[in-house]
Amino acid sequence: MHTLTLNNGVKIPLLGFGVYQIPPQDTEQAVIHAVEAGYRHIDTAQAYLNESEVGRGIAHCGVAREDLFVTTKIWVENAGEAAAEASLHRSLGRLNLDYIDMVLVHQPYGDYYGTWRTLEKWQAAGKIRAIGVSNFAPERAVDLGVFNRVMPQADQIEVNPFHQRLREAAELQAEGIAVQAWAPFAEGQHGIFENPTLCAIGAKHGKSAAQVIIRWLVERNIVVLAKSARRERMAENLDVFDFALDDADKAAIAALESGRSLFTREPVERVKWAHGLAFNI
Ligand SMILES: NC(=O)c1ccc[n+]([C@@H]2O[C@H](COP(=O)([O-])OP(=O)(O)OC[C@H]3O[C@@H](n4cnc5c(N)ncnc54)[C@H](OP(=O)(O)O)[C@@H]3O)[C@@H](O)[C@H]2O)c1
Repeated sequence: MHTLTLNNGVKIPLLGFGVYQIPPQDTEQAVIHAVEAGYRHIDTAQAYLNESEVGRGIAHCGVAREDLFVTTKIWVENAGEAAAEASLHRSLGRLNLDYIDMVLVHQPYGDYYGTWRTLEKWQAAGKIRAIGVSNFAPERAVDLGVFNRVMPQADQIEVNPFHQRLREAAELQAEGIAVQAWAPFAEGQHGIFENPTLCAIGAKHGKSAAQVIIRWLVERNIVVLAKSARRERMAENLDVFDFALDDADKAAIAALESGRSLFTREPVERVKWAHGLAFNI
């Protein structure tokens, strides 16, 4: 598996398997299938309510713990030094691990500075290998690092052909913060898998639209989190290292930019939404 080296030297597999919206009863098997397909990087979160099932998948997948890269995320209700600390113990228990490869602050809301101090402490103690953020604007991610001790190792943000995040990705990468793409397929919205531009590029290279998208992200040095509950698609989404996009392909994809997120609400609404979601996790 190809890797990206984070700003603290830790290597992260470029392609990760996301388990958002995989029902808990299917998650253990999905993780096992993903590892069998070749994934070594699993992306979960406290708020996905399937950390325990991810833990069982890890335990039963047949691959050594040290060969896997496991990420989870601290939800808003667990923001703050003490709450984040307590929630990390619960996440470790659910995941059935004694260390976590990466922990992200899931949203830039609540006392995330307190959360960050806890993450720095856990990283220094060797319980977390890499720490980062998610859904942070570049300046908020950088402020967290400059104001505290550790510059985030990554920012996981929405990136897909309809919302390409060129400015944000360049700013983050210039500060040494790795970009991770969530919803690389826009969760299938707007007919992305049948998009004529992506299909034409795919046909040229003998690849699917999904593979073109992943390749386009990988060529931007972006870590890709793709989700599929289907084994053949898990394998398809890994098979992107035997071709390269040319300038015409990249120009055609650039023209797909819509200028807006496909998911996020207006900022004020988003803050209220996130604070309103309490999972008791
Ligand atoms: N940090 C955050 O706030 C945040 C937010 C959202 C997501 N994420 C992370 O990012 C991961 C990926 O995002 P996502 O799950 O929202 O959406 P996504 O990966 O953009 O899209 C998943 C959808 O694409 C389909 N699909 C996957 N591969 C395909 C292929 N080769 N051909 C056709 N269809 C395909 C899947 O269907 P099947 O399953 O039926 O194959 C599913 O409906 C998540 O699982 C999660 O780990 C993070």
